[in-house]
Amino acid sequence: MAEKGRVCVTGAGGFVGSWLVKLLLSKGFVVHATVRDPSNHIPALICFIFSPSRLCHVTLIISDKKNAHLQTLDNASEKLKLFKADVLDYQSVSTAVQGCVGVFHVASPIPSPALSNYEVEMFEPVVKGTLNVLRASNEANIKRVVIVSSVAAVIYNPAWPEGKVKDESCWSDKDYCRNMGNALSWYALSKAEAEFKAFEYGDTSGIGIVTVCPALVIGPILQSALTSSSWVLFNLLKEGYESVDFSEHMLLDVRDLAEALVLAYEKPEAEGRYICASHSVTTKDFVGMLQRMYPSYKYPQSFKEGEPRARTTSEKLQKLGWSFRPLEETLADSVESYRQAGLLLK
Ligand SMILES: NC(=O)c1ccc[n+]([C@@H]2O[C@H](COP(=O)([O-])OP(=O)(O)OC[C@H]3O[C@@H](n4cnc5c(N)ncnc54)[C@H](OP(=O)(O)O)[C@@H]3O)[C@@H](O)[C@H]2O)c1
Repeated sequence: MAEKGRVCVTGAGGFVGSWLVKLLLSKGFVVHATVRDPSNHIPALICFIFSPSRLCHVTLIISDKKNAHLQTLDNASEKLKLFKADVLDYQSVSTAVQGCVGVFHVASPIPSPALSNYEVEMFEPVVKGTLNVLRASNEANIKRVVIVSSVAAVIYNPAWPEGKVKDESCWSDKDYCRNMGNALSWYALSKAEAEFKAFEYGDTSGIGIVTVCPALVIGPILQSALTSSSWVLFNLLKEGYESVDFSEHMLLDVRDLAEALVLAYEKPEAEGRYICASHSVTTKDFVGMLQRMYPSYKYPQSFKEGEPRARTTSEKLQKLGWSFRPLEETLADSVESYRQAGLLLK
């Protein structure tokens, strides 16, 4: 296959990054994939979240290397190059982007109860990390950087007219997020600030910046362990919750997100922000769908009323040519991937 161009993907070993790398390799790109520790093993902590009583499943996965799945992707042997980089370490990012024509900045901490200092563990890596990636890209003469933001950077805005669907012109209010003071609100604040600063940097440097703001990402895993939002679906199948909240969620398939990111990179007319969300579904309907497809798992029995969720639109992205798959396909492929990874019994 002819080389299509050389691009860098930060956070390549994560849930989203892995699917993006797979898609780019399949399209003929040479990929500089950054991971923080190429020799890392899956941390034991993940196993305890999984549940101490199921430790036997866990011993199967902790012996695996965390980023080994990247090397097994089609075309990886010729077209994938791993770089050890932390986005807070400018030099490591600068080395990874050398020779590339484009960058996908995916790496980011995600909200987690394990975080204690949001300013240091969330805000700094998201904002300073993004600026390091942009500065390194500018110095390497890169023309376009696609940044993975989040719908969290869009929706927390109390001044937005009630009932009006939120589009890309809506920005999460930084003071409001800071005052809420929890992991999710700091994530929203950090992502909004990083996007804002990125567009500012783009205006002065001339780099083309496009941001994509995904909703909750679900879908099959390429990794041998769960990270990030993969836990949401997995826990509904596995945890046997008595009760969960009833609220509405905006979801999308990780593979559709990878397509959106490549579209944002390849389409010359792509500009600004793009909200990326496919399905809006209540937890109750979501569980009902799973139950019809896989009746033998232990599902929540009751549903508490949850907060009403913001309505957003992905019309701008759809106009760019984006489409998404049915939710049933996402669920079926996710369950199959958990089974194949040995995380879920049939
Ligand atoms: N999953 C969702 O529902 C969702 C929704 C909206 C937006 N997003 C965004 O999508 C992107 C990918 O998230 P994900 O779901 O794939 O999460 P993930 O599986 O946890 O992946 C995040 C990746 O970022 C890397 N990372 C974190 N801090 C870093 C640092 N200081 N330097 C370099 N790499 C660092 C992690 O590396 P290690 O493996 O070394 O920890 C990991 O590979 C993030 O920008 C996230 O904010 C995700």
